[in-house]
Amino acid sequence: METIYTWYGHAAHGLKVGESRLLIDPYFTGNPAAAVKPEHLSADYILITHGHGDHIGDTVSIAKRTGALCISNAEISTWLRNKGLKTHAQHIGGGYHYPFGYLKLTQALHGSSLPDGSYGGNPAGFLLTTPDEKKIYIAGDTGLFGDMQLIGDEGIDLALIPIGDNYTMGPEDALIAVKLLRPKRVVPVHYNTWELIAQDPQAWKKRVESETETKVVVLQPGESLSL
Ligand code: NI
Ligand code: MN
Repeated sequence: METIYTWYGHAAHGLKVGESRLLIDPYFTGNPAAAVKPEHLSADYILITHGHGDHIGDTVSIAKRTGALCISNAEISTWLRNKGLKTHAQHIGGGYHYPFGYLKLTQALHGSSLPDGSYGGNPAGFLLTTPDEKKIYIAGDTGLFGDMQLIGDEGIDLALIPIGDNYTMGPEDALIAVKLLRPKRVVPVHYNTWELIAQDPQAWKKRVESETETKVVVLQPGESLSL
């Protein structure tokens, strides 16, 4: 079974796991880094880490058009269900078996208000174990936390972590995160969308690869890698 990961810019991701097409935090409209237009994307599932506009993004329009099942915490799921979308609510620490694998919500240190000011519950990350046992960790927007060590104990194949600073971990804390997570590969995200989160991913790659065994894959928006 092949799993293909695509970075769409900022913290918008795509995953194709076998026949299942997933979008994670599908922020395209208004995203200066977006590689594609949302109307050109298809999805069976949309995963949302937290309620902020640069993550909930185009969830409503894409899910209405495609009929995708939206997976998020209970608060965001209720908000989306009230807009007529299909949802599956989970919460932090809880996992569920979907056709694309076992998906667990992980903690994230951040906020989660929705674009209209509604309470979005606690922010989350995702830990996905695909049917052929590949582990993908999507940190979401978060500061550094020591329990990344426990997530790392799972044996991560691919980690997607923010390095932009200001709203999330910056390069220094993201380096520590890699040391705790010990993934085979890491893709830095949530940087260079705006001047406020400008970072040099090549400099970070050099540093991480000199201090850890992890390979850093710097993608351009729209580029993919396969697992
Ligand atoms: Ni956020
Ligand atoms: Mn964000």
